[in-house]
Amino acid sequence: MTGAARRPAADLILCSCNSVFESEVVACARRGAKTLDAIGDECDAGTGCGSCRGAITTILEEEEDRRRRGEGIPEALLQLPLFQLGSGKDKG
Ligand code: FES
Repeated sequence: MTGAARRPAADLILCSCNSVFESEVVACARRGAKTLDAIGDECDAGTGCGSCRGAITTILEEEEDRRRRGEGIPEALLQLPLFQLGSGKDKG
């Protein structure tokens, strides 16, 4: 995965079925994924056994709260490579 070098040291695997780190799920949510299905489409998290879906839901709720408080990341910053962590899927 190309984003590994930029991953925070404390980052943890959130979805063990698909080896998806918490930072990748947060990045997906900050890029606009608002549902479990959207997160699954974006990075595969939550598409296996389902045991991580509660944690993903918590992240989605926290990101929605951030957006409501106006603490979201400006759209221009979302285009930076930092927020383009590898999803494990080719989009092109
Ligand atoms: S741990 Fe995420 S789907 Fe199984």
